[in-house]
Amino acid sequence: AIDNQPMLTKEPGNFNQESLRQLFDLGEFELPALLRYANQIRKKQVGDEVHLRAIIEFSNYCSCHCLYCGLRAGNHKISRYRLTNQEIYQSVQTAVRYGLKTIVLQSGEDRFYQPYDIAHVIEFIKKHFDVAITLSLGEHPHQSYQIWLNAGADRYLLKHETADPILYQKIRPGKNLQDRINCLMDLKDLGYQIGSGNMVGLPGQTLTSLIDDVLLMKKLNVEMAGIGPFLPHPDTPLGCYSAGSLSQTLKILAITRIVLPTIHLPATTAISTVNDDARRLALGSGANVIMPNFTPLTVRDQYSIYPQKIDIIEDPKQSMNNLKKLLKEMNRTISMSYGHAVKIKKYS
Ligand code: 5AD
Ligand code: SF4
Repeated sequence: AIDNQPMLTKEPGNFNQESLRQLFDLGEFELPALLRYANQIRKKQVGDEVHLRAIIEFSNYCSCHCLYCGLRAGNHKISRYRLTNQEIYQSVQTAVRYGLKTIVLQSGEDRFYQPYDIAHVIEFIKKHFDVAITLSLGEHPHQSYQIWLNAGADRYLLKHETADPILYQKIRPGKNLQDRINCLMDLKDLGYQIGSGNMVGLPGQTLTSLIDDVLLMKKLNVEMAGIGPFLPHPDTPLGCYSAGSLSQTLKILAITRIVLPTIHLPATTAISTVNDDARRLALGSGANVIMPNFTPLTVRDQYSIYPQKIDIIEDPKQSMNNLKKLLKEMNRTISMSYGHAVKIKKYS
């Protein structure tokens, strides 16, 4: 029945609130067909290769007050750390030894670093390792983005979190959605490949706004979308709300694949946290990227954005072994390339 849905035969540019609403409204019996359909599109557009991105969480300091996040400035229950440059390079080396070709440098919005501190790290990594670099450091002035691009950064992840401007302001006090969108457009203009994304199941989130999330990413022409369920963290103001559902998250993942056929779509750590099979389900619903964690185990549990990250206890060897086993079972291969954005868009 899914394949007969009229909106799926339309040109991708024609997706709108109404046509996507029909997909969102599909019931639980139709969901598996939707997920399978997204999986077919994934296969046709980006193939069976899964791109691995090594994430290194080098600082858990953050000056922001996001109501949902365990790293928020007001959470005094976690101990804060900053990796030394040497520790960062060691983590990069470990990732490279496992064959990874992209390093994601992530932190909270840590005002301790000057733009050139970060640039120095980027330059060093680029000089000594054959990798692409993705930054995930939050909102910064144009000048900093320029400096980091000049230093060799390739991509930037900045999730818009929710496309509902009112909800956005509530859950990110003192911030507004338009500033975030401006940062994304700025990054794109500078020449970064950009990634955005949102949480699913936030308290007060409407269906309309979830559709807007997909449409916003389409409009921004993002190269990557990180989509995961909201997971309540007990030491945050949203700690008593319930988590976003797995099926809803998979549905949105699938719709994103349908609307943005050549995008890079990770099976996010947040999805993997939901249950043991969630990562497999995501890879079967449109996802083609996995981000194994290479943050040193000594500080891993202190990067507690949300509780119960499955990879907390896994060292790189374990997690890479599990990953290889899973991909083999699914007849998926590990990409040996940098996994840059797919530039040539083929719609058929
Ligand atoms: N549940 C799910 N995702 C979260 N993030 C932060 N807090 C939570 C949470 N409680 C995500 C946000 C952010 C990224 C670093 O982690 O999308 O961009
Ligand atoms: Fe800081 Fe990002 Fe967490 Fe917000 S979501 S508190 S910006 S680390």
